[in-house]
Amino acid sequence: MTADPGLPQGEEKAEAVRGLFDTISPRYDLVNRVMTLRMDVGWRRRAIHALRLGPGSLVYDLACGTGDFCRELTAAGHRPVGFDFSFGMLENARTGAPLVQADALRLPVRDASADAVTCGFALRNVVSLDALFAELARVVRPGGRIALLETSRPDNPVLRAGHAVYFGKVVPLIGGLLSDRAAYAYLPRSMAYLPPPEELVAMLRGAGFDDARRLQLSGGLTQLLLGSRS
Ligand SMILES: C[S@@+](CC[C@H](N)C(=O)[O-])C[C@H]1O[C@@H](n2cnc3c(N)ncnc32)[C@H](O)[C@@H]1O
Repeated sequence: MTADPGLPQGEEKAEAVRGLFDTISPRYDLVNRVMTLRMDVGWRRRAIHALRLGPGSLVYDLACGTGDFCRELTAAGHRPVGFDFSFGMLENARTGAPLVQADALRLPVRDASADAVTCGFALRNVVSLDALFAELARVVRPGGRIALLETSRPDNPVLRAGHAVYFGKVVPLIGGLLSDRAAYAYLPRSMAYLPPPEELVAMLRGAGFDDARRLQLSGGLTQLLLGSRS
């Protein structure tokens, strides 16, 4: 799945990711807002809007981190439950939603129990996307929906070049100044874990989200994957 042989795999990757987020958790929100110029807030709202859920829907937010999606889901009138395996991120969460320390690949919930699942910027962090998508298909009820956000590379060559400089040089610099340089140098590298867009959509369709599709947000800086459980 990865083109970068220097990146960890399997359990080594899971341990590295958990440790990384435990380390950066105290200043995660600050760095995120600075790094994305607050665009991340709009991306999450867009994702929730695209779910077109009825009021009071039960939504599992996987890899919830410090609870940004949970806060927006609550504000939109839904009932979120957040799951993350980094205790540091959960400890620094600012949300009234219930939070559970758990691996997104093995959720402690019943089959078909969620009206929807959200997941923000964690696809490249999991050990197996196939396992994650199978877990989504298990926990979302028939007709329920998913909205997954992940970083992306713009198609436009000029934007793409600017994005490479920003993500590859500026992000580690900002992260280093405000938080942990090594961690924020890893984040751009971890893009190599992501399959190409068409493969991501095909994987979701294969997992049981027949109408899966992908939208590009902010000129392709971010991608939004949507689908309904067949
Ligand atoms: C980039 S942060 C995103 C946090 C939040 N979703 C957001 O939108 O800001 C990635 C999160 O994924 C979590 N994560 C990565 N792999 C995970 C797994 N297998 N199970 C649970 N959480 C995981 C990390 O602990 C971290 O909090």
